[in-house]
Amino acid sequence: MRVEMHALFKSFLEAHAAEPRESVVFSMAPAPTLGEFLGDLDPSLPLDWSGKSFQGLPSLREKILARGGFRSGPGDVLVTAGTAEANFLAISQLVRPGDRMVVDVPGWPQPLVLGEAIGADVVRIRRREAEGWRLDLDELESLVTDRTRLIFLCNPNNPTGRVLSRPELERAAGIADRVGAYLLCDEVYSGLEWDGQSTPRAADIYERGISTGSVSKVLGLQGLRTGWLVCRDPSLVLDAMVLREDTSEIMNVLGEYVADLALNEDRYRTAVERARSIGSANLDRIDEFVASRRELSWERPQAGLIGFCRLEPPLDGDELSRILLREPYRTFVMSGSAYGYPDHVRVGAGGSGPDGISRGLLKLGECLDALGEKRS
Ligand SMILES: Cc1ncc(COP(=O)(O)O)c(C=O)c1O
Repeated sequence: MRVEMHALFKSFLEAHAAEPRESVVFSMAPAPTLGEFLGDLDPSLPLDWSGKSFQGLPSLREKILARGGFRSGPGDVLVTAGTAEANFLAISQLVRPGDRMVVDVPGWPQPLVLGEAIGADVVRIRRREAEGWRLDLDELESLVTDRTRLIFLCNPNNPTGRVLSRPELERAAGIADRVGAYLLCDEVYSGLEWDGQSTPRAADIYERGISTGSVSKVLGLQGLRTGWLVCRDPSLVLDAMVLREDTSEIMNVLGEYVADLALNEDRYRTAVERARSIGSANLDRIDEFVASRRELSWERPQAGLIGFCRLEPPLDGDELSRILLREPYRTFVMSGSAYGYPDHVRVGAGGSGPDGISRGLLKLGECLDALGEKRS
């Protein structure tokens, strides 16, 4: 299987090479430092495999379930190298050439490139922008055929921040069940729902539901490469573990132990409160900025730190993000073409505090003004 580079990764590579000074694009809470955990780590910890279970540290699996509000037991959890590996393992083991795979768009590009590399019949279901990026479940119903092996939904959605309600997710599960398909929900943004309502879990709602997630976003611990897959179907968990033996083989033991600390109840609650307070202040700034610019409109995200802004024609996402990366702006905002929507840009409230976001928005405003003047 040869995997092509998707546009979103290309965009990150190009922006990184341009060494931007400001960014209004990122999706994670500000990262804690190692020092915040050092005092609680055992210096005699052997940096070998934990030796406890091929599914991951038992206490970590318990905490993943408890903090995530899952109804599953620890046997349903596989600890992985992030959500990305969890998605990879599930998709690779489930989908064969010619199988149908239905994927929400805009959404996380990983299932699209993997499905295409496998030779699956990858069908995109376009979210309805005019309805706040709602997923049209009647359309999903019509796209799911007897050959459908997997429905992949990014919920909460990257890049729009839209969340499926419980009845919506139940209906999606019912549609999958009709043909015996799996329903994989990438839930990496759960924990930052702005109305306080938890995202319903695919693994709770459906026996072939798979929930994937990690400590990357809400806790800002992306570099630990520690995430999970939760599913009540033991054959799927075993299959994922079998493929993991041939990818990363075992877990990153340091990542597991730090994640185990990070998911302790008190520490987790404090971290989430901090992420929510910084994130909502940053989102307020972006919201005010968007409201003040006639060239931009958006649906404020229901969850997570990123949102998708529509550009008023003739503005183009590729041109805008390219110019912004150069002097005098040196600011990273991602073109919507990373998601197949060149008339949009992805903006993010993550990665820094309100001052950083304000500086980035100032640059974005100056760039929009300059482009406007050039055109008039
Ligand atoms: C929807 C989505 N899924 C997965 C990932 C990868 O996350 P992780 O660090 O948990 O592998 C990201 C990262 O941006 C994401 O936005």
